[in-house]
Amino acid sequence: MNTALRATSDRPCGPRDGDPIDQIAAALRTDGYIVLPAPLPPAALGGLLRHFRSIDREQFRRAGIGREDEHQLNRFVRSDKIFWLDNTNLSVNAYLSWMEALRVGLNRRLFLGLFDYECHYAYYDRGTFYKKHLDCFQGSTNRVLSTVLYLTPNWQPRDGGELAIYPPGEEAAAPDALPLLKVAPRFGQMVIFLSEEFPHEVLTVNRPRYSVTGWYRVNNSLGDIVDPAS
Ligand code: OGA
Ligand code: MN
Repeated sequence: MNTALRATSDRPCGPRDGDPIDQIAAALRTDGYIVLPAPLPPAALGGLLRHFRSIDREQFRRAGIGREDEHQLNRFVRSDKIFWLDNTNLSVNAYLSWMEALRVGLNRRLFLGLFDYECHYAYYDRGTFYKKHLDCFQGSTNRVLSTVLYLTPNWQPRDGGELAIYPPGEEAAAPDALPLLKVAPRFGQMVIFLSEEFPHEVLTVNRPRYSVTGWYRVNNSLGDIVDPAS
């Protein structure tokens, strides 16, 4: 067992004791998602938050890619700003090592063939949101598991910005569907879910909200089409 991976959830979806990767794998197998109230050591979270705050706001980009008119359109869908991460920062490096241990552990248990992990910081200013969507990238199917680690200190219910996760399936994508659960973006909490199964949205934020969003991907490369591209 990787001792860096510890779940301190009150009610994890699975047995209380034992290897946290076993718990995560079991929940993903039966439910397709898991909420972990405090999986990472406090020092790791503190390092990430300090790094997040040290980055000039100018370096955060409006989420979405493509031509300028698509950017305009995207603002009705999502209004957060993102900063892609690499392993040049020590705190990010520690986080990526932790996610790597989880990747290997999940592959062993679930044979998901997770190939790599990409992640970015997301900054939601007051009044921003991300409308209901599925996580898939430019029509490709390589995102298998979505992870979000929340870094908002002292989050309160009035601060909003919960992640609403809807049941899988077409009906659930209906505008009036009720969420399956709402995840508070509380400092240190992490949610992991099957990227293509669960429509989800970030409810309007009333106070700046910090998070690390990432995806475990499979390698869909065929012939000379490289997917993932980076
Ligand atoms: C995303 C996303 C959820 C969250 O970035 O695709 O759905 O709670 N984020 O930040
Ligand atoms: Mn998403």
